[in-house]
Amino acid sequence: MIKVAPSILSADYVNLQKDIELVDKGGAEYLHIDIMDGSFVPSISFGPGFVKAIRPITNMVLDVHLMVQNPEHIIPDFIDAGADIIGVQVEATQHIHRALQIIKNGGVKAEVVINPGTPVEMIKPVLHMVDQVLVMTVNPGFGGQKFLPETVDKIAELNQIKQDKGYDFDIEIDGGVNNQTVVDCYKAGATVAVAGSYVYGADDPVSRINAIKDATK
Ligand code: DX5
Ligand code: ZN
Repeated sequence: MIKVAPSILSADYVNLQKDIELVDKGGAEYLHIDIMDGSFVPSISFGPGFVKAIRPITNMVLDVHLMVQNPEHIIPDFIDAGADIIGVQVEATQHIHRALQIIKNGGVKAEVVINPGTPVEMIKPVLHMVDQVLVMTVNPGFGGQKFLPETVDKIAELNQIKQDKGYDFDIEIDGGVNNQTVVDCYKAGATVAVAGSYVYGADDPVSRINAIKDATK
């Protein structure tokens, strides 16, 4: 069964605590927090202060996805804010080893993220040092986009490397995930599913978490 990471990008910001407690009690393992800088992606979302404000109100794993150009300078602020996992986009830095090392040195789990147009080859040099790989299943920047099925082969390719080398990183998917699109990803080796609009766009978000889990039994 896949782990579920609701994305609070699609939550009700005025009632955020309620929306976080709902998915926590509903069995979600991670809380996915999308950080957008208006440069790497067109939108602007949250900063480190947002993560810091959430930290005391939940024990959920805070899974912070940095869609930020040159993230090295801001990573320490997210470490201090209480993130449990920090992901950096390989396309956003000239120095991916350095960025991941800053995260690890802060005692936080390190994740590398690849866009749909980026080949797995690009992240091979850092796979030995990550706790999680995020395979974007849409181009990042917005919630509610359509899943790109051509990303499934990349999940399988990554999973093959994971088996061959004996790595134990989680493989996360993000974008357009629902109880149907998750199935092939899970079969290909995905272990964590981010879901924003599918979970928070529903009248009963917990039923959507269960639907993702039921589809990957
Ligand atoms: C997209 C973000 C996602 C987003 C997913 O740039 O990285 O985490 O919240 O939203 P859905 O599940 O609606 O595609
Ligand atoms: Zn995300």
